[in-house]
Amino acid sequence: MFDSVFLDIPPLQAAGGTVALPGSKSISNRVLLLAALCEGTTRVHDLLDSDDTRVMLDALRALGCGVVHAGSSIEITGIGPFGRNPASPFGLSLSKPAPALRQAQGEREAATRLFLGNAGTAMRPLTAALALMGGEFELSGVPRMHERPIGDLVDALRTLGCRIDYLGTEGYPPLRIHPAQALQLDQPIRVRGDVSSQFLTALLLALPLVARRDVVIEVTGELISRPYIDITLNLLQRFGIAVRRDGWQRFTIPAGSRYASPGDVHVEADASSASYFIALGALAAEPATPVRIEGVGEASIQGDIRFVDAARQMGARITGGANWLEVARGSWPLKAVDLDCNAIPDAAMTLAVMALYADGTSTLRNIASWRVKETDRLAAMATELRKLGASVNEGADFLRITPPAQWRAAAIHTYDDHRIAMCFSLAAFNPAGLPVRILDPKCVAKTFPDYFEALFSVARTPAPRIPVLCLDGPTASGKGTLASEVAHRLGYHYLDSGALYRVTGVAATRAGFALDAAHEQQIAHLAATLPVRFAGGRVLVSELDVTDAIRTEEAGMNASRVSALPAVRTALVALQHSFRRLPGLVADGRDMGTVIFPDAPLKVYLTASAAQRAERRHKQLISKGISTTIATLRADLEARDLRDSSRAVAPLKPAQDALLLDNSSQTVDASVAQVLQWWDGKQAFAGQQ
Ligand code: DC
Repeated sequence: MFDSVFLDIPPLQAAGGTVALPGSKSISNRVLLLAALCEGTTRVHDLLDSDDTRVMLDALRALGCGVVHAGSSIEITGIGPFGRNPASPFGLSLSKPAPALRQAQGEREAATRLFLGNAGTAMRPLTAALALMGGEFELSGVPRMHERPIGDLVDALRTLGCRIDYLGTEGYPPLRIHPAQALQLDQPIRVRGDVSSQFLTALLLALPLVARRDVVIEVTGELISRPYIDITLNLLQRFGIAVRRDGWQRFTIPAGSRYASPGDVHVEADASSASYFIALGALAAEPATPVRIEGVGEASIQGDIRFVDAARQMGARITGGANWLEVARGSWPLKAVDLDCNAIPDAAMTLAVMALYADGTSTLRNIASWRVKETDRLAAMATELRKLGASVNEGADFLRITPPAQWRAAAIHTYDDHRIAMCFSLAAFNPAGLPVRILDPKCVAKTFPDYFEALFSVARTPAPRIPVLCLDGPTASGKGTLASEVAHRLGYHYLDSGALYRVTGVAATRAGFALDAAHEQQIAHLAATLPVRFAGGRVLVSELDVTDAIRTEEAGMNASRVSALPAVRTALVALQHSFRRLPGLVADGRDMGTVIFPDAPLKVYLTASAAQRAERRHKQLISKGISTTIATLRADLEARDLRDSSRAVAPLKPAQDALLLDNSSQTVDASVAQVLQWWDGKQAFAGQQ
């Protein structure tokens, strides 16, 4: 996952290949709650692993559910069944009460506190379920969650006899839930349907708990986001609850309904997440090499799958099967559209970015619900689309978008909203060849922690467009530490080229070669076929961890010897070039800026004094329990500097266009900040934050 402050996406040009998408958030959290309310164990396969499902799992654990990870599935043991018990105030008891519920039988006792982050799909249904179950609970979330309305659901639950208090602002979480007094189930329960369909979903999921008689829900106002209700009804069916639906106004939970675990449940891939890759195919995939999406097909139960129709209208060429889709460019530029997006509220954000590539002005209508999502999405989308150069008309419930006459490089604010981060990444296909900066890219963790990795696995751009930052300096100048930290802060790959020579030296020694011209060709062959991999700070050769073995003094000497063989240097060129991958690279070592990546936009050469380097190395060695003197170390370093800078092959010297950084008396943090400042100065959106 990219946990940097920002992620710069270089201009992208093409796409193709296969992506497997994470599970649907809407299905995952509904299935988790249903599994929790049933008797017995439910094995949930392909569950989405993200912030929103994590808070739900934490909540279920706190309520006493069994949660066991078993490979790629999760086993949930429910806290049901809920049988009749005349002694309980509203005719309910738990035959095997969860500890949290048991301890919370009386109001005097402390409440069970549940923190639900920014997950509406956890907050709303849990409010309903816990209010009906009985017990003392406090439900809270992040500050934005406390701005997302829940009043209509609370009103509906209160008319039933549930007792719920607002702990902050009326109508919004956090909430305190007390045991209900007596439930009034003889009248239809009215709930508003025009703010969030999650209120109705919450009631539908929770009311089977108390369906001793037919329970009727009546929706007031026009029900929005109907496809999400379809998901709810579909999943209830799988858990044994057959809700009767009369139009979209009246829903009846039949008397005697009881949750029954289906045993195993497979979670479909997220159709909203698929929208980014459908758009990607429509923007940039050749028909012969389409973007293939696995885990969800056109027959999906998720409403957002209808994004497929909208994308087709804009020109996408889409084929599919039961659980896959293939997408390529059809019409180009895309065709402008005027669409009612009520049925695909989340995926419609992707249409807004596709509209940047259309042949005219597009209008997305009936999207008022955007205002109460992770952020006010109508305002946010308008603001960020304008930054790219588009003309945008923001209405109360619509967005009208005219593509940029002239594209601009922009730093996109993401408002802690995963979908804004994901859909704006598609602006990197702009015809002006400009990069896009996504601020706070880790917000995608809400539903798709590896979104950018998935994007970069199927997006392509010519190598010269992938930025490289080169860092070099004499031995013990701290360049490795600096380079890997800079790479981390930019979310870039890191190439420690010295390690390649060290690995080659180790491999050549093990093969019994003399490390000189006598075996130059054999060592070069070894180097050209090195099965080396860098993973999580470790260096692996054919899956053998050689991280420590290549760091010895002897390995350093051997590396120095093989690095002086021209054929070996040539053999490693292709491998080093292969590290230039999206979104960018920090390359550390001798000839990075001169031979391997001469076109790198920034080259930095460290010039710490020998005295300072000797002192640092001394501290390092002492801390490892190796005794030595500063004077000896300094003499060694000076001798090595001389040898390195005077050798014929790849001598140690700054690239002509390198910026010099004397880090003798600087902390690593200060050096990192300096390099990042230089880097930022080279970017198209310099100064935008
Ligand atoms: O940076 P280091 O100490 O890990 O490098 C090991 C040896 O390899 C050192 O002698 C310099 C040499 N080297 C090189 O010749 N070219 C590079 N790009 C990187 C390292």
